[in-house]
This record gives sequence, structure tokens and C-alpha cells, in this order.
Amino acid sequence: MTETLNPAGIPEFPGARAAGCPFDPPPALRALQGPGPLAKVRLWDGSTPWLVTRHAEQRALLADPRVSADISRPGYPGQTPYRGGGGLSFIMMDDPEHARLRRMVTAPFAVKRVEAMRPAVQKITDDLIDDLLAGPRPVDLVEAFALPVPSLVICELLGVPYADHGFFQDNSKILIRRSSTLEERTASVGRLNEYLDALVARKLAEPGDDLLSRLAYRVKAGELSRREAAQMGVLLLVAGHETTANMIALGTLALLQHPHQLALLRDGDDPKLVAGAVEELLRYLNITHSGRRRVALEDIEIAGQVIRAGDGLIMPNDIANRDATAFPDPDELDIRRDARLHVAFGFGVHQCLGQPLARMELQVVYSTLYRRIPTLRLAAELDQIPFKHDGQVYGVYELPVTW
Ligand code: HEM
Repeated sequence: MTETLNPAGIPEFPGARAAGCPFDPPPALRALQGPGPLAKVRLWDGSTPWLVTRHAEQRALLADPRVSADISRPGYPGQTPYRGGGGLSFIMMDDPEHARLRRMVTAPFAVKRVEAMRPAVQKITDDLIDDLLAGPRPVDLVEAFALPVPSLVICELLGVPYADHGFFQDNSKILIRRSSTLEERTASVGRLNEYLDALVARKLAEPGDDLLSRLAYRVKAGELSRREAAQMGVLLLVAGHETTANMIALGTLALLQHPHQLALLRDGDDPKLVAGAVEELLRYLNITHSGRRRVALEDIEIAGQVIRAGDGLIMPNDIANRDATAFPDPDELDIRRDARLHVAFGFGVHQCLGQPLARMELQVVYSTLYRRIPTLRLAAELDQIPFKHDGQVYGVYELPVTW
């Protein structure tokens, strides 16, 4: 059966991107899309999970309660040997546990609550641009702007002191680097959990008006253990800054490489155009390029195949978002297209909790940075930019810019 699915043999996953095409999915991965919606791939540990190649089947499976996100289950196609799911809270749990915990932190991420934060995010963005303009050139946009914006925002929302950003950014980096050893990864999850646990303890004693204080209140009320509260804090802190930071830097690079699109965005004066540009950049760039990982709990029939209970499933959003049946001319970056059905935030019960916040942050940044610095340009050749090929989240390590 495997031979007919992959006539050319089972390719390694994840494959390498083509030289000079840093925004496009690996060609070997893309090639699997033509023959059909399902293929087999080989992982680092020799296992051969299913790869779901198309947009429609990915959404169907991500919304199917017969698939599990529990990393500790046999057959789960792990990105690394790390199996400590609990350390990262509900992103790797199934309902009803997943829903119980997620519900406790949903409110601050609702669209209305997030909109109320827009002026504060605008101020953070403007202040950082003031600093950029007053500082030396060239400058690394990642360090000076892309990382601080979402880090400051998530710190404020959670009640984490921003002064500790070096600590949590460094540990997040270890956690999401594919090349980190099991020991390094386990140690960094341990340090982050210890740090958040101490913060929850502090909030128990001196509550503030922040999300960690509300979790501490639930601990006091016996609805949540301290460990669960700390683990949720780690998930929100890590997911809340790394992802958006990569979208800011990689999005800027993509726009600088597409000057016509950048001009449309910079010179347009319509919030809808900006909102559309955010969706299109999410669709086009796919920073969470390692794919959603799941394991089948029961036999599932899909696209004429039976996925057996215990089979691993990988759903890479980068090829789903470049599926021509869902997005015409999928390889074109076109900020005026309707890209809203993209799966850059996942789909189903685990769909990104922070998406309203990420959207708002990106709208503020993309509508401000290029207007305030209209001559922004790269201060290095494209082939000198260090891309995060080894990251579970894609982006750039540095982005030297000038103006
Ligand atoms: C552009 C930025 C972002 C992208 C591309 C992104 C992407 C994703 C994706 C693809 C998932 C689904 C994981 C899965 O199904 O296995 C996810 C889940 C999640 N994201 Fe985001 N995310 C972003 C920003 C944020 C922010 C700002 C937060 C704020 C804390 C956040 C918090 C979460 C959480 C808590 C989950 C787990 C949801 C669950 O399991 O129920 N994300 N994100």
C-alpha cells in the first residue's frame, strides 16, 4: 500500500527548503500533494506516519474527535524524543481535560478584550520605533523590535515581569529548536515551569489584575493545581511571544522582497486591507512549519484509505495553505486576496487560542512600521540571512535592516 502512495519511496520529513526559496515549503513535501491527500513520510526515529497533504482533509481530520493530540500516546509522531506533554499543558491534551483547562484562560483572548488592548499595543510599537529611529543603523530588527513587541504584550497580559525576558526567551529558544537534545529540552521546560510556579506563588500572596493572578485565585479555590497553573503559564508565555515575533520579522522580510505588496500595504489607508494582509502573510509564510501532529484513536476512513487506530498523522499547514484547490495561484503573495480559510492557526479544538491577540498585534505592527520608516530596507543580501531551518517555528534569527 505504501508503494502505491509514494511511488518514489518514502521521503524524510521534514524535508529541506529549496535554496533561494525561503518562503516556500520544501519541494519534496509539495510533490506529495499531487498524487493524493495522503502519503507516508519517514521521521527521525524511523517511524512512517501518514502525511495529510491537502487543505480539506487536514481540516476534516483536525476537527475529528477520533484523533488525539496527546504526545505520550504510542504512535504519536513526535518532532523529537521529548514526551513530556504535561509540561506544555493543554496543547498536548485531549478533551475533556483540554477543554477544562482551556476554558479557564479563554476570556482574555476574546476579540473584544483584545481590542481593548489595541491602544497599549500601538504605544508599545510606537515607542520601540522611536528607539529604533534614535539608535544606530543598521540594526537587528528581531532583537530591537520583533521580539520585544509580543514579549511586552504577553508579559503585561500574564503578569510576568518583562525584566525577565532574557530568561524566558532563551529557554523558549531551546524548547523549540529541533536540534536541542532531550536533556536540554527537558531542562528548559523544567526551568520555565519552576519560574512560573514561583510567580503563581507570588500572585497567591499578592494578586494583581493579570491572568496569572486569576489562575492563582483558581488554585486557592481548589479548581486547579499549582502545577497545572504553572504549566498553563509556560504554554501562554512561550506561544505568546515566539510565534508573533517570527511573523513580524519574517513578514517584514517577505514584504521587503515583494515591494509592490509592501507599497500597497504602506500606502493604503484601510484597516480591512491591513487585516487582509495579516491573513495573507499568515497563509503564505506558515511559521508553524512542523505540522500539526496527531495519533488516530480509532480506525478512520478518509479519501479511500483506512487510517488505523494508533497510526500517526502529520498535517503540515505550509502545504495546505499552498493547496491550489483552496487558494488560486497559491504561491503568489497577494495581500488583497481572501485568505481567511488558511490553517496557519490550526483547526478544530486546538485552534490557536491567542489568534485574536496575534492578529491585532500584527495589524498594529504592519500598519505602523512601514509607514513610520518608509525607506526601511535590508542591510544584508537575502542569502546571508540566517533562517530558522532547524526551528519547530520558522522565521529568521536576525534581520539586519537600515533606512
Ligand atoms: C502569529 C502568531 C501565532 C501563530 C501562527 C500560532 C499558531 C498556532 C497553531 C498552529 C496552534 C495549533 C496547535 C495544534 O493544533 O496542535 C496554536 C495553538 C495555540 N496557540 Fe497560537 N499561534 C500564534 C500566536 C499565539 C499567541 C499570541 C498566543 C497567546 C498566548 C497563542 C497561544 C496558543 C495556545 C494556548 C494554543 C493551544 C490551543 C489548544 O491546544 O487548545 N498563540 N497556535
